[in-house]
Amino acid sequence: MCSNYRDWDEYYRKYPLEELGWELGKPRPILVEYVEKGLIPKGKALDICCGAGTNTVYLAQSGFEVTGIDISKTALKIAEGKAKQANVTINFLEESFIDLPFQNGEFDFVFDMGCFHHVEVQDRTQFIQGVHRVLKEGGVYMLTCFSDKNGPRWNHFTKEQIVDLFSGYFVLGEIRAVSSVEGDGVVRYFYTVLMKKKGGAMPL
Ligand SMILES: C[S@@+](CC[C@H](N)C(=O)[O-])C[C@H]1O[C@@H](n2cnc3c(N)ncnc32)[C@H](O)[C@@H]1O
Repeated sequence: MCSNYRDWDEYYRKYPLEELGWELGKPRPILVEYVEKGLIPKGKALDICCGAGTNTVYLAQSGFEVTGIDISKTALKIAEGKAKQANVTINFLEESFIDLPFQNGEFDFVFDMGCFHHVEVQDRTQFIQGVHRVLKEGGVYMLTCFSDKNGPRWNHFTKEQIVDLFSGYFVLGEIRAVSSVEGDGVVRYFYTVLMKKKGGAMPL
């Protein structure tokens, strides 16, 4: 992996959770909405970049059989503690999103809150192909990434970029603009998209 990746574990070691921008202390409202509307297929779910496990625990409490991966040991320890407290079983693994250690077609749902936008440009195709590979045919990938409304930056995406990146692999639903007062009190803008895996062998 490219050395531009930051030391994520340091964030979790250095700062209390309340000071981490992405940590809301509650599941993402858009995830809760989509689960409650029945838009997410029940079954095996992967929380890719699960962090401290807030959304992961919510998915387990909602009846999913959940695996959470993250590169940060410290985040995973916190997440395990939360799962224990909530009395749910989750398979937490210290793994990278670049080489997903799962079988083809293992998951019904991949949840991505703030993961893809941290994938370096040169690794994007590998990441997308990995998510596509581990999903069952017809499985759903829920992407939430920074939008260009935050201002121009390498990982602030336009709707057109999202379509260009993902439409070879997935059938995209509505690209929804979402804003949120994040854990650090800053308003950030995202796009959330539900995408269904296209059938058959790897496209492109
Ligand atoms: C913005 S945080 C989002 C965490 C979580 N999804 C949430 O919403 O609370 C990004 C997460 O990605 C994790 N991460 C960064 N690079 C990773 C990699 N190569 N593989 C797996 N996780 C990674 C970080 O440790 C961090 O927990």
